[in-house]
Amino acid sequence: MTNAPPWRVRLNPALEGLDVYDVPPATAPARMHANESPEPWSAAAMRDVAAAIESVELNRYPDTSGRALRAILGERHGVDPSRIVLGNGSDEIIFLLLTALLQPGHRPRVVIPTPTFVMYAHSARVLGFDVTGVPLRDDFELDGDAMRPALEDATICFLARPNNPTSSLWDAALIQSLIAEFPDTIFVIDEAYGAYAPGTSLYAPDGPSNQVHMATLSKVGLAALRIGYCVAHPTLALALNKCRHPYNISATTLAIAQTLLTSHARELEAHLERNLRRRDQLVEILRALDDVEVFPAHGNLALCRFTPPARATPLARSLAGRGVLVKDVSDIPGLEGCLRISLGLEGELRALREALADEPARDRS
Ligand SMILES: Cc1ncc(COP(=O)(O)O)c(C=O)c1O
Repeated sequence: MTNAPPWRVRLNPALEGLDVYDVPPATAPARMHANESPEPWSAAAMRDVAAAIESVELNRYPDTSGRALRAILGERHGVDPSRIVLGNGSDEIIFLLLTALLQPGHRPRVVIPTPTFVMYAHSARVLGFDVTGVPLRDDFELDGDAMRPALEDATICFLARPNNPTSSLWDAALIQSLIAEFPDTIFVIDEAYGAYAPGTSLYAPDGPSNQVHMATLSKVGLAALRIGYCVAHPTLALALNKCRHPYNISATTLAIAQTLLTSHARELEAHLERNLRRRDQLVEILRALDDVEVFPAHGNLALCRFTPPARATPLARSLAGRGVLVKDVSDIPGLEGCLRISLGLEGELRALREALADEPARDRS
């Protein structure tokens, strides 16, 4: 076991510097660490889900490309479903986009503002891309002056809007001008959290050909399903489909998503409305604390910075000890002293409020 197997030299050297993205299963009473929608589906919706699963022919392959779900999404977005590509989460879409842009003999380059969603850089490195990170400004807004030189000759740029983990909503006009100024760079506008910033989407069915709209069902109550998608120019959609494994979305997943997005669309909307109110409550809880800066929250998460910065990690540990899970992001450059806290149900928010209320006394002791 101690000797490295001889084939180890064949492994992709980029993997040496990468970690496995792994989150242990959590059963804590207050789970506010994973940017999910906190609300479970109603009993009526779950009964329809059970019926939908019952009708799945487990002995048959699913549709190769999820036609029925793409038709639902195509209608929602006002585009021909052939421009929609489904992924096993938008994580798979990220991988497909990068794969489709690989060119032998040419080292491709991805540009990402930092900090942002970790899988852009991770997948890019796996596939041999150079990664140019452009730090966000102190207010977590996009830095146009720094983005422009970085984008010269870049292959692809991922812009999460709203962004994770900062919850900031970057300037629309700046993004639109970057897309126009760099027509041979693909810009992926990742609106994973778009439902939490109503009316701000940059999606347009007839937008520039180098603009890709990426979205996911994970943040609107369907994280378990693993369905992400993009709307792309037909030429790019075709390229992605050539890279995509057939049958990448299971028949059970498709059946559940189709049922909930059609028969229970109103319930989904109601979850979102309640979640937006929960976000106000979360921000209010955090703002009530001393020595905490709460940044404007546009996603289903709030980012806050504690003073002194060394307070963040022990606080996250102490909250976890009381069954309240939050994400400690304080080791990410630019996020010193920061915790990222996702929405919770009323009981979870109460548990957070109570746990935080006990904290200062502990700190002083
Ligand atoms: C900005 C952003 N994009 C994409 C994803 C991935 O979503 P999915 O669950 O669809 O893979 C996440 C997940 O947290 C995210 O924060």
